[in-house]
Amino acid sequence: MPKPTILDNIDEIKKIDKSNMLSFCAQAPKHYGNAAKLPRQFKISYRKPETIVVAGMGGSAIGGELLKDWARDRMTLPVNVCREYHLPAYANKNTLMFVTSYSGETEETLSVFLEALKRKCMIICISSGGALTEFAEKLSIPHVLVPRGMAPRATLPYLFLPLLRILEKMGLAPSVEAELSETVRVLKQVSLENSLERPLSDNLSKKLASNVYGTVPTVYGFGFYRAVAQRLKTQFNENSKNPAKWESFSELNHNEIVGWERAKEFAKCFSVIFIRDAEEPNEIRERIEFTKEIISKGAVKLSEVWSSGKCNLARMSSVVCIGDFTSVYLAVLRGIDPTPVRTIELLKERLKKTGVKDKTIRELQKLAKT
Ligand code: F6R
Repeated sequence: MPKPTILDNIDEIKKIDKSNMLSFCAQAPKHYGNAAKLPRQFKISYRKPETIVVAGMGGSAIGGELLKDWARDRMTLPVNVCREYHLPAYANKNTLMFVTSYSGETEETLSVFLEALKRKCMIICISSGGALTEFAEKLSIPHVLVPRGMAPRATLPYLFLPLLRILEKMGLAPSVEAELSETVRVLKQVSLENSLERPLSDNLSKKLASNVYGTVPTVYGFGFYRAVAQRLKTQFNENSKNPAKWESFSELNHNEIVGWERAKEFAKCFSVIFIRDAEEPNEIRERIEFTKEIISKGAVKLSEVWSSGKCNLARMSSVVCIGDFTSVYLAVLRGIDPTPVRTIELLKERLKKTGVKDKTIRELQKLAKT
């Protein structure tokens, strides 16, 4: 194992983090602030929908997952995320469809875009360019253009906050102004506390990265931290190039927990990160404590991440931010540049031979001409 003190060597971290993924973590407050202003000029003339679907893949889908959790106890409309080639059967002209692809080139998302057009859904596109932007413009579909030149997963604020803003504008979600300002305030503190300059001895993300090093980190969320747990897992995958898992309470107490009963021989392979909240419900606290007791019998390394802030958005974002930092520090410990995701690119290249994307593009071109 590399000495964790590498995390106190600023020059070494910068050398490994070649494309400066850490800067997106450090500048989270600025990006959240900018993203909140994005759809300001946006005019939407859609009527009230019956369902909301966010379509996207990977880093472009997680904003939809976070929205789903955030909306759960404050929006009366069902919100679902479509991470597939095809729309669910219920999607129709009464569905508000956010079609989200950072590159605008993801074949599953383009395929769903085409289906949404055919089903006359009320579509709003979010992308930084590519075919999605091109066809949204040609077909006069409302479109949010997000800043270019970043890794999709680093643009989370730009793919998530516009959803909140648009729903607020359409009168489908309550005002988010106060939540957004608190979130930016909280993120300023979190990014300071986890910064490159803050030493390992006083830096939660650096400690977490050292704790999970050499294991498969398993992230446990609950309630509105369900998608947050998923985000931490995918950041470990893409930034740290590390296998990872996620689950959510209380569902994990009905299956996953039994898997830890005789986990001694796996103790070296896994670590568990519990997402905690000072105001977590008693029943969740009890479940977490019991689960910790069971897992620690197998001597698996356990860590906790406590959220900060008052409103749900700040709490969720504070943990996301800590997870982002941790995934980059873990990459550094492993001597890996966090930014490139070669395997995803390789697969996208290989899939070209199936002709699915070309066919979708041809159909979009036909629609654009009519
Ligand atoms: C890369 C990343 C990926 C992409 C996914 C979809 O940073 O996070 O998960 O988000 O391959 O691509 P886009 O976002 O361009 O639609």
